[in-house]
Amino acid sequence: MLEIAGLNAGYGRIPILNGVSFSVAEGEVVGILGHNGMGKTTLLKALIGELRATGGSIRLEGRDITPLSMARRARAGLGYVPQGRQILPQLTVQENLRMGEIMRGGVSAIPEMLETFPVLKPLLARPGQALSGGQQQILALARCLVGQPKVLLLDEPTEGIQPSIVDEIAIALKHLQSALGLTIILVEQDLHFIAALASRVLIIQRGRIIATIAPTALADPAIVAEYLGI
Ligand SMILES: Nc1ncnc2c1ncn2[C@@H]1O[C@H](COP(=O)(O)OP(=O)(O)OP(=O)(O)O)[C@@H](O)[C@H]1O
Ligand SMILES: [Mg+2]
Repeated sequence: MLEIAGLNAGYGRIPILNGVSFSVAEGEVVGILGHNGMGKTTLLKALIGELRATGGSIRLEGRDITPLSMARRARAGLGYVPQGRQILPQLTVQENLRMGEIMRGGVSAIPEMLETFPVLKPLLARPGQALSGGQQQILALARCLVGQPKVLLLDEPTEGIQPSIVDEIAIALKHLQSALGLTIILVEQDLHFIAALASRVLIIQRGRIIATIAPTALADPAIVAEYLGI
C-alpha cells in the first residue's frame, strides 16, 4: 500500500529525516515509537507533503506521490490527524464533519462515522471548542475518516486523553481496520495502545528507523529500556 524509500526531509537547511525506508501492507497497522524530538511528526509531515522530501520516494499503491502537493496526496488517499487534535473550534461538530466530506469531493460518510463514534451523535450541534479534549480527538479522527482515506496517519492520538476514551479510540480503529481494511501508521507513546493495534513497531532515532520489533516485545522491560530508555 505504502512504500517509503530513502526518505530525507527537514526544516530549511536542517536535515531531520535521514534515509527513512519502510513499507506498509494493505490493512496493516504499523506503529512508530521514539523519544521526543526524534522525527516522528516530521516523518508524517513528509508523507503528507506538508514538508517536501529532499531525497527518496513515497509510493502509494505503486504510484510515486513524492512530487504531488499536499491536496493531491490527500485526494490520492492519505488521511492525517495531526498531533494536538486540530479541529475547527468555532464550527459545530456537524460542520467539522462536513469539512471532511468537502475535502473528499462531497462523498457522504457522516452517518457511517456516527455509527463508529456514537459519542459524537448528541454533540452534532455543539461548537468544536465546547467539546472535551477526548471528544475533540474523536472528532478530529472522525473528520479525517469521513474523507475515506486509504491510509490513515495518526500522530499521538491518545496524548492527554482519559483512559475510557483511549479505549473507545482503540476499539474504533480495530473495527475500521477489520471492516474496511484501513491501513494505519500510528505514532504513539502509549505502549499498551500501540501493542493492542500494531502488527509491527518501528523505532525511530534521530531521523532513522533503527529497529523493527514485535508488539509483544513492548511487554519486555529490557527491550523498552534499550530502545526507549524508560
Ligand atoms: N518547524 C520546525 N523548524 C525547525 N525545526 C523543527 C521544526 N519542527 C520540528 N523541528 C525539529 O525537528 C526535530 C524532530 O521534531 P518532530 O516534531 O518530528 O519530533 P517528534 O518525534 O514528533 O517529537 P514529539 O514526541 O515531541 O512529538 C526536533 O529536533 C525539532 O526540534
Ligand atoms: Mg511529534
